[in-house]
Amino acid sequence: MRIPHEVVEAIKDRCDIVDLIGSYVTLRRAGSNYNGSCPFHSEKTPSFTVFPDSQSFFCFGCEAGGDAFTFIMRSENLDYPNAIEFLAKRTGVDIPRSAEEEKRGLSRKRVYEMNLIAARFFRECLFDPVLGREGMAYLQEKRGLSVPVIRRFGLGFAPNDFTALVTVLKKEGYTDQEMKEAFLCGISQKSGRAYDYFRNRIMFPVIDTTGNVVAFSGRDVGGDSKAKYLNSSDTPGFQKRKHLYALNFAKNHCADELILCEGNMDVVALHAAGFENAVASLGTALTDDHARIMAKYTKQVILAYDSDEAGQRAAHRAMAIFAKVGLDVRILQMEGAKDPDEYIKKFGADRFRQLLKKSSTGFNFKLQTVLSRYDVTRPEEKIKAAADLCEIIARVYSAAEREVYIHAVADQLGISTDSLQGDVERIRRQHIKADQQQQSRQAHLTAMNLGDKINPEAAGSVQAAAAEDIIIGLMLLYGEHRKAIRSGVVPLSSDSFVTAFNRRAFEAIMALEAGEGGFDFAFLGEFFSPDEMGRLAKLEQKRRALTENGTVVLRGAAETLAAAKEKKAVKDAPAMDGLQMLLEGKRKKIKRPADEA
Ligand code: UTP
Ligand code: MN
Repeated sequence: MRIPHEVVEAIKDRCDIVDLIGSYVTLRRAGSNYNGSCPFHSEKTPSFTVFPDSQSFFCFGCEAGGDAFTFIMRSENLDYPNAIEFLAKRTGVDIPRSAEEEKRGLSRKRVYEMNLIAARFFRECLFDPVLGREGMAYLQEKRGLSVPVIRRFGLGFAPNDFTALVTVLKKEGYTDQEMKEAFLCGISQKSGRAYDYFRNRIMFPVIDTTGNVVAFSGRDVGGDSKAKYLNSSDTPGFQKRKHLYALNFAKNHCADELILCEGNMDVVALHAAGFENAVASLGTALTDDHARIMAKYTKQVILAYDSDEAGQRAAHRAMAIFAKVGLDVRILQMEGAKDPDEYIKKFGADRFRQLLKKSSTGFNFKLQTVLSRYDVTRPEEKIKAAADLCEIIARVYSAAEREVYIHAVADQLGISTDSLQGDVERIRRQHIKADQQQQSRQAHLTAMNLGDKINPEAAGSVQAAAAEDIIIGLMLLYGEHRKAIRSGVVPLSSDSFVTAFNRRAFEAIMALEAGEGGFDFAFLGEFFSPDEMGRLAKLEQKRRALTENGTVVLRGAAETLAAAKEKKAVKDAPAMDGLQMLLEGKRKKIKRPADEA
């Protein structure tokens, strides 16, 4: 989405950066600027500064910096267009929609309408005494679902027919292309005609949290189809990496916890048994997006994955994903059943409720996994198990938690808590030492300008990079310098630059300068990441703090850069010659037989 520069400017005019950042961070006036604790890294002394004059911010601790848009990109975790949209809403600026977006919005609306018609059609088929006989018998007899549950989930049946749904949708005015885009039909290569994708399947409509039917999941009932489940692929209104089945119901029952299962049948069975906080991902493994969405609704997730090995592996993977978004995870361990659906059918809802209560924390799950890997009746394997577990416990931050785990392991393995404690502490000391070494290495590298993530080439060309930094800072700050460069009064082009980052900055600034509406710092967000914006803000800030920023400085830097580039070329040249010589020598050797002939 390209947002017109006028919109960006209108937002800038209406948005005061002190007010904006002040609503996230407590700011205190310090001279003409404001100080506060940096929201992007943890610190004891405030090094985060907001500059009302330039409507910018910079943290001298972590080097985050930029303008209002960069601030929102960082703190709301948005990309540039979405940060603009966010601030447009806040400041009451209208973003005119492009024709293309209008079309995309329209096609999404059409997909939802089409899906709703399809869902109604599938439901009618299921409740039709003839068409739906097999499907209804399957749901009620084989799966034990009652009619109210079937209705609540809007379940349906896709007849064993290639044109049943297509015919209905055509009558409603939808084109083959639209049906295909919505993943409701395919187009036959032979005849070029549209045919129903979902056939002879129990249909589960997927409903988003605002009530749109966004996709379908169809379970085969004939038993002869290749795929047991067929799920909609991504469409203009559905991304499977973001949607969770039944979140539309679960969102009202999950303040304490969400139950995550593998299958939609598990979800339906759980809801029917009174666990209305169950959801599932749809034909895909858990993604970071799923986890982030869940974190919006709840504090804790109980993983109720299948009890087979694949399910348990998936649980390990999911734990790591949830840890990233700070969600507490507990793991349900089912015995005597493959999945929650089967468990409830076999043992009843009360037993499942007990399972939920007993669900183990991440540590207990890991403990069980380690124990299952070793035969702890054998001394040498017991030692290995203890070593693995001490390694895990040593990574736990809280001392109290470590103590609890040490006791649990001591109980399980019959080893004294003292010796386990000793091992854990030894590993912790090793970790701490390794961390410290890593940190001082990092500090050393930073001091030498190595480890500069934004401009890694600066280390190899310190002089050139310093001159480039001055040039970019001046260009960001003064229109007269941009003009002087553009008109050739000061000879600089992207070829003058040594480091790729500064060259990119130069090119972006010049492209904006030459474009309609000219250059503005606020437009740079389209081309640079928040971290890179921080660097640009730093270069600008550095120049702003100095009094001498005239053409003399710009010329001087341009000359220094040219000289440094020259010097570097000379320095690099002998290496090239050496290589050349080596190559020549090789070539001669290869050539020799031919020469002799
Ligand atoms: P399972 O094979 O564990 O099915 O797949 P289930 O949920 O126990 O199904 P029932 O009880 O036999 O009806 C779990 C999930 O994996 C996806 C589906 O989302 C399913 O709910 N899946 C499975 C597919 O996408 N395609 C398949 O062919 C099978
Ligand atoms: Mn199942």
